[in-house]
Amino acid sequence: MKRFGVAALALAVWAGPAWADDGGEAVFKSSCGACHSLSQNRVGPPLAGVVGRAAGAVSNYLYSAAIRNSGLIWTEDKLDAFLISPKTVVPDTKMTFNGIRDAVRRQALIAYLKSH
Ligand code: HEC
Repeated sequence: MKRFGVAALALAVWAGPAWADDGGEAVFKSSCGACHSLSQNRVGPPLAGVVGRAAGAVSNYLYSAAIRNSGLIWTEDKLDAFLISPKTVVPDTKMTFNGIRDAVRRQALIAYLKSH
């Protein structure tokens, strides 16, 4: 039993950064969690179901006119571009976020959002 415990610990350490093995939940919590939840309005709108949704679609969230009138659909590609640099995709958005440069982290995050 003791041996098993040590092996499990070694495996956990070997697995590397948390976001690599948890489907992006850690990226969501650390990069988006200050402003977004999955299910409730916070500083930003809730993000459950956002992949494939029209921009500005949460009816009781007060979006900027820029997002509301953008006509965008949050496809995986659009979301990816937005997460690299929100203001490049929607110049007057009120989402003040510097973006995620690392493509692997963005992919993990988008996969996480897709599954919620
Ligand atoms: C500093 C706060 C903040 C952070 C951090 C932040 N956001 Fe936002 N987000 C906002 C705000 C505010 C809006 C509303 C933008 C508007 O109306 O212009 C928004 C809007 C969005 C939208 C558009 C949603 C819709 O319904 O059209 C998406 C998608 C989004 N955020 C994804 C993310 C993701 C993913 C992260 C993490 C990588 C993140 N945001 C980090 C504040 C933030």
